[in-house]
Amino acid sequence: MSCCEQARRQELEWLRQEVSAARGRRERLLPLLQEVQERLGYLPPQAMELLAAGLGIPLAQVYSVATYYRRFTLTPRSQHVLQVCTGTACRLRGADQLLSFLLQRLQPGTKASTGGGAGNAGPRGGSACGCGGRPAGESAPPVSVETVNCFGACGLAPVLAVDGRIHGRMDAGKAAELLEKWVER
Ligand code: FES
Repeated sequence: MSCCEQARRQELEWLRQEVSAARGRRERLLPLLQEVQERLGYLPPQAMELLAAGLGIPLAQVYSVATYYRRFTLTPRSQHVLQVCTGTACRLRGADQLLSFLLQRLQPGTKASTGGGAGNAGPRGGSACGCGGRPAGESAPPVSVETVNCFGACGLAPVLAVDGRIHGRMDAGKAAELLEKWVER
């Protein structure tokens, strides 16, 4: 069994126990969704089914809650997530150029998306390879580039977050250094 599959089974076993201890307690849905998101980096269908059955909540309602909050994702996230602020203050100070630089540098293995929640970290799952126990076929690109509206750190514009950690007064040169240090190792 691969380390990924083993990690995934361990996480689902952990969830089974948690759900069993919380049987019928619907108020545990949000905290458990949050835990699964943090442990696996996303909410796999098996976890959703376990939660629905164990907490006595219709599966559609579990999905409805999971898709309502931006901090949850139903698909695997990349190992590294770069978030460029495209709020007004950051745009005035070069956020668009920063975003273009990152996309150019990281393509073709990079996806760009908008509206990712600020401060999200990548998966912290227990597998040695950092896959978070994702099953084969559910791969994500190694690096994702997202945009967010504002980190609330406008005085540091333009702002880039690398795996949830804020870096201020960014430009292409500094971003290139960060990529070499953190992402492209
Ligand atoms: S506009 Fe970028 S941090 Fe506020």
